[in-house]
Amino acid sequence: MVRLAAVLGCPISHSLSPRIHNHWISVHGLTGFYSAIDTPPAQLGSTLEALPRLGFVGVNVTLPLKQLALARADVVTENARRIGASNMLTFTGNGIEADNTDTYGFTWNIRQMIPSWRPSTAAVLGAGGAARAIVVALQDAGARQILLCNRTQETAQQLACDIGGAITVVPWQERHDMLAACDTLINTTSLGMMGKEPLSLRLDALPGTAVVNDIVYVPLETELLRGARLRGNPVVDGLGMLLHQAVPAFDRWFCQRPQVDETLRNLVMNA
Ligand code: ATR
Repeated sequence: MVRLAAVLGCPISHSLSPRIHNHWISVHGLTGFYSAIDTPPAQLGSTLEALPRLGFVGVNVTLPLKQLALARADVVTENARRIGASNMLTFTGNGIEADNTDTYGFTWNIRQMIPSWRPSTAAVLGAGGAARAIVVALQDAGARQILLCNRTQETAQQLACDIGGAITVVPWQERHDMLAACDTLINTTSLGMMGKEPLSLRLDALPGTAVVNDIVYVPLETELLRGARLRGNPVVDGLGMLLHQAVPAFDRWFCQRPQVDETLRNLVMNA
């Protein structure tokens, strides 16, 4: 049986998802193909009608379609509902099912690198779409308190209100001092990405045992991760989140649990 899947987004040519899934299709000796389809928001509806008829089993969706995708779904998982966005649509007998695997990707990236990781008080920089999934993931991983700090404070307040639980919104200028209480620090902003402004953050107050993760993966070692590594903190780069978020989709659509290993990391890093 030939299985087809794709990633939809706009623009989409830069997406690394086809490399990941097609590598796994080849590793598992399957017959199938994973493509990238440029999909402007106005065409999402017609695309989602056409693809199941063409034999597609599901699609990943990325910017700017993650919220729209949720609205298009017939069935929404609890996870996608809490985050308010979907990155994975499966075509089922009951219509389109929307899930969100960014939480899985975030958590298993850190667990693979640091198996003993148990977040209790986590600091999260940023309050965009990625932050929403990460806050939900941190709560599910057992974090009792999340300090949420974003340049635009209202966006952080909205996130805290939408997701609920113990989230304390911290003003952006207080980001340095809030680190004193944390065992986990995550950068979900685009600061530090190649071509963007650097992230200005003093790590002096951060406990030496705190796990530091940056979701930026170009460069693989951001200034934040470098600074944290040099002072002895355990660090986790952002590439693994991209790789691990693909696991549940591949498992569901191609019926094989794939591995995130060095071969895959090297393949994607060289892309
Ligand atoms: P994503 O969906 O990938 O998380 P996003 O929604 O564009 O992307 O979010 C980008 C995040 O980076 C936001 O938290 C944004 O802060 P604002 O809500 O204030 O826009 C943050 N960000 C981007 N540029 C920034 C800058 N120069 N300084 C501080 N934060 C910045």
